[in-house]
Amino acid sequence: MAVLPYPKAAVGKAKAMQPNTPVPFNYPDAGSPCVAIKMGQRVAGGVGPDGDIVAYSSLCTHMGCPLMYDAKTRSFKCPCHYSMFDPEKSGQMICGQATEDLPQIQLSYDAGSDTVHAVAVTGLIYGRQANVL
Ligand code: FES
Repeated sequence: MAVLPYPKAAVGKAKAMQPNTPVPFNYPDAGSPCVAIKMGQRVAGGVGPDGDIVAYSSLCTHMGCPLMYDAKTRSFKCPCHYSMFDPEKSGQMICGQATEDLPQIQLSYDAGSDTVHAVAVTGLIYGRQANVL
């Protein structure tokens, strides 16, 4: 089976991102909603000047419901069956009906233009046989 290359897509300017505030975007195509978050502290896989910007698919890995980001608990929560995921631990499932961690969007950062780009996905986006269609 051929593996299609991931596109490189701009997510936004790192310095314009507010801590603990989700920034929605779509990746690797318009049918896949994602969210980037500046966690405010360096985290695994984080990019940007402070190493604190991460991004995830915002579709729950249980049955694909849109996740909500809860700034108070700094976690993604699913309104359908209450799964929770940790953006500071590579999308690890905290609890709930889901059995898979949240797919993480791999990011790169260009210091010259202060731009964060999405460049790949780790894990399979809900409902897909391949992330790149
Ligand atoms: Fe999210 Fe079921 S769809 S827990």
